[in-house]
Amino acid sequence: MRIHLRKKLLLACILTGIFVFKVTVFIYGNSQDEPQFITPPAILVSGGRSRVHAVKVEPAPSPERLSRGAVLAARALPSGQLPADEAVRPYLGLRSTWKNVTYSVGKFFIFSAYFDRRLDKKFVRIIATGRLRLPRTIRALQCVLHYSDGSKETVTAEHKVIRENWGLAYTARFVLCNTDRLPLRVSLVEKLNDPNPATVAVSDLDPSVERLGDFAVCVKPFHYQFNRAVWLVEFIEFHRLLGVNHFVFYNHTVGADVQRVLRFYESRGVATVIQWEMQLRSQKEIRTENMFAALNDCVYRSMYRYRYALLVDNCFFYLYWENDTAVAEQLQLSPAGERRFPYLITLFKTRRMREPFRFFSRSKYFVAPERAVEVGNHQVWQHVPGFKAMSVGEHYGLVHHYRICEMGGFECKKKPSVIDRTTHKYLRQLTGQVLTLCAAIFGDSCPEAPPLGSPW
Ligand SMILES: *[C@@H]1O[C@H](CO)[C@@H](O)[C@H](O)[C@H]1NC(C)=O
Ligand SMILES: *[C@@H]1O[C@H](CO)[C@@H](O)[C@H](O)[C@H]1NC(C)=O
Ligand SMILES: *[C@@H]1O[C@H](CO)[C@@H](O)[C@H](O)[C@H]1NC(C)=O
Repeated sequence: MRIHLRKKLLLACILTGIFVFKVTVFIYGNSQDEPQFITPPAILVSGGRSRVHAVKVEPAPSPERLSRGAVLAARALPSGQLPADEAVRPYLGLRSTWKNVTYSVGKFFIFSAYFDRRLDKKFVRIIATGRLRLPRTIRALQCVLHYSDGSKETVTAEHKVIRENWGLAYTARFVLCNTDRLPLRVSLVEKLNDPNPATVAVSDLDPSVERLGDFAVCVKPFHYQFNRAVWLVEFIEFHRLLGVNHFVFYNHTVGADVQRVLRFYESRGVATVIQWEMQLRSQKEIRTENMFAALNDCVYRSMYRYRYALLVDNCFFYLYWENDTAVAEQLQLSPAGERRFPYLITLFKTRRMREPFRFFSRSKYFVAPERAVEVGNHQVWQHVPGFKAMSVGEHYGLVHHYRICEMGGFECKKKPSVIDRTTHKYLRQLTGQVLTLCAAIFGDSCPEAPPLGSPW
């Protein structure tokens, strides 16, 4: 099946995502409070007309060109088809762990490093985490670059704070080590005689590598023992139906059922799961499981491998508004069948706010990774020179964000709403996929989800 961006598309994504661009949503929250509604979040964009968040600054392609393009050139997955094994991907799945830099001004960590030749100077760009404010008087950190011929070079590290740190004491950062040659690995030290230097491998961002697909999805870290396996399967299969090839997940903590789902998709080459140990307290010291480090890491990992990276949240929310009875009708489910039918939010939650959020206000986006330098939750903060973000008209698609009212309360429920069954276009296929995948993963029907309101 193919998605024509010409048609109005509601992507129900779990938050976001996708190709859509204005979202409408109702959001059901993850708190113990009463469900609430908000104004629909987001809109997203990027892409579109030229479907990318970063597009060369030139006239947008005509819609004709767009719809022919690979856009969601979607592979049609016949219902009930398991993902085929795919080859292991080079640095996409590179194992990384947070390494502890010995630094006299407090905790400082490095995770991964990429050789970046896209700007006027070449750098090893390290994904790091450290204090938001580093005292000026402190001794500079040094990059020790190790080359394949056995030589070493030491350069002074440059620091760049990744935006969206919410004023907390710690922030995601880039550390830049200027060099013209590709090193094998880099250590970051305060003192050159550090007996146990924090060292990470350097991945080469090589424009000539083989493309692995059109779309990868970057999902911020799983946490709180996230265990809504059915919705995770739904999320993955829904996006696969829309043409997504690969998913990059970060694992802080997950529950037992989600663990099985991730392992399954990982074994099929459909997902890359990256360990995400947190050594800082989420929301107290650093914003949301250090998600901005993860999102930027994901964009660098997907660079040149996937034409676009989709930045979407992983929250699975459900809409408070009534469940859509059209699902049972269309599938002609008996009452017993209905009880056993997996509760798929993209199918059951079809009422949405009539007015989507404005662009850049909770919108989501997709980006051509090689055109982005620094990304955030709702926008690209820094593009490679010559590129910029484009907004995509809502007639091309919408992102649904399932959750409670953003500002709390039921206020958003009072706003005008509409029933939008765009997702029902995939009703049979999606249902078939979810049931097939649950059977393959669990040897049975989909596991019961934890009650809403528990950590999920
Ligand atoms: C970093 O390493 C030092 C020395 O090994 C250790 O004492 C410290 O606990 C580590 N810090 C963190 C946050 O892991
Ligand atoms: C997720 O992290 C936990 C805790 O570190 C680990 O036990 C589990 O195997 C990881 N799961 C996956 C799918 O990587
Ligand atoms: C929709 O269906 C789900 C699953 O059966 C149920 O838990 C939820 O309460 C229903 N929501 C509404 C608003 O009826």
